[in-house]
Amino acid sequence: MAFPQTRMRRLRSSAGLRGLVRETDLRAGQLVLPLFVSSGADVVQAPRQPIGAMPGVERLALSAAVEEARLAAELGLGAVMLFGIPAAKDEHGSGAWDEEGVVQLAVRAIRAAVPELVILTDVCLCEYTTHGHCGALHEDGSVDNDTTLDLLARTAVSHARAGADMVAPSDMMDGRVRAIREELDAEGFAETPILAYAAKFASAFYGPFREAADSTPAFGDRRGYQLDPANGREALREALLDVEEGADMVMVKPALAYGDLISAVKRETNVPVAAYNVSGEYSMVKAAAAAGHVDERAVVLEILTSLRRAGADVVVTYHAKDAARWLAEQS
Ligand code: PBG
Repeated sequence: MAFPQTRMRRLRSSAGLRGLVRETDLRAGQLVLPLFVSSGADVVQAPRQPIGAMPGVERLALSAAVEEARLAAELGLGAVMLFGIPAAKDEHGSGAWDEEGVVQLAVRAIRAAVPELVILTDVCLCEYTTHGHCGALHEDGSVDNDTTLDLLARTAVSHARAGADMVAPSDMMDGRVRAIREELDAEGFAETPILAYAAKFASAFYGPFREAADSTPAFGDRRGYQLDPANGREALREALLDVEEGADMVMVKPALAYGDLISAVKRETNVPVAAYNVSGEYSMVKAAAAAGHVDERAVVLEILTSLRRAGADVVVTYHAKDAARWLAEQS
């Protein structure tokens, strides 16, 4: 039956009816807040260092990271995700698996201060290597996949040993989920889940993150390991392979321009799906809001709800704290 028997507007005619038929919910518990923890000289000067392109996001000294984690727990956020900025870098990125490294120290400090908070850690080498690539290099400057696997597995185990609830490899090496799973199991961390950045694209939306984490490649780019934004079928294959290798959850990244893949990965896998609303996506909203072009609160809640509608069970977002406050005000 079509118009005039059918009138779609009937169920939109009051706030009560709209609430009754709302298909998608958004809760603070579904949001993950990324934290940049630094042990560099900058945070010795002041424990919170602003990041130019990301108003409201800071590089944090350990003490400040613990404060942020406590706030995240108070706001009811689902988890925090830690990124480390080490005091020194080297060719192989050995700071990544250092038992006294910045992420390892931060995990222990947050675990002790806020025991109930879920702590995820980003597992990658790019913040720790002098060249800024996500793995060890061949002579010709390309990333050596198989050598890198051991380094990633060591890094993941060191995070688990420090007390991380889940490890999230973001490097895009082939076989890393299996390598990490085997090493975690061998070292007594069979219960530690893996969130694989399964469909991670070589994206220009990571620009502000690289400023924040000081991880811009010294030469070349990441197209030799991250996905081509033109390739959806290949992204789905990556996600299916990661599940086969033992990923407990998979992530699509970036989020805004990749809703088709959030939806496809959700449909084709049976694991929880995360979407990473990345740094450049955050900066765009902040810049447009600061210029008065959009209403920040409305736009952020619309974006996060839309990512949930596309199929994301979990959204990693720099807007997490504000979103949690706004959601609390609404209810
Ligand atoms: C590390 C990593 C990156 C991001 C998350 N983990 C940067 C990159 O791959 O260059 C980007 C996150 C963001 O832009 O918010 N490999």
